[in-house]
Amino acid sequence: MSSDVTPKIGPTPDSEKQSLKDRINNAVRTQKRPTVTVLSSLLSIEDDLGYIPKEAISIVAEYNNSTINEVWGVASFYPNFRFDPPSANTVEVCWGPSCHLVGANDVIKSVLDELGLDGEGDTEDKGVTFKFNTCLGACPQAPVMSINHRMYGKISAKQAKSYVSALRENTKGSHS
Ligand code: FES
Repeated sequence: MSSDVTPKIGPTPDSEKQSLKDRINNAVRTQKRPTVTVLSSLLSIEDDLGYIPKEAISIVAEYNNSTINEVWGVASFYPNFRFDPPSANTVEVCWGPSCHLVGANDVIKSVLDELGLDGEGDTEDKGVTFKFNTCLGACPQAPVMSINHRMYGKISAKQAKSYVSALRENTKGSHS
């Protein structure tokens, strides 16, 4: 498994800044939601880029005839928005009701243990971002986890640990 998402460190070159702005503009202008709002615009950007870059705030404000303060207000109100690029890989474990009933807690514990984390966040080497999910949409397959958006169902804590371990092994060095 690999990923083309590389964490950005240091100043962003002008060409990268422009393409980031293009992606933000595109995400805002091609939203499929029936009602376009500041929140829907931020969600579209987060869906596309995995985070809300600072450049997005003024673009969203202008597009929605809003102010920068209002957009920041909405963005900072929702804890699910992140403001720095995600790690090279994303692991999500569902802790919704169906998964909770059949062992999600053990899966979560073993994944966190493997990642050296005690909750949502990034591993120290920026190799993996860990997130909880309230429903990955595959309840009959509970408990469910996803790795880089690929779903794994009916997993045991042991399997989850070995998937995460394999992911880290396969991507070692690709994000540093
Ligand atoms: S509750 Fe876990 S996939 Fe729906």
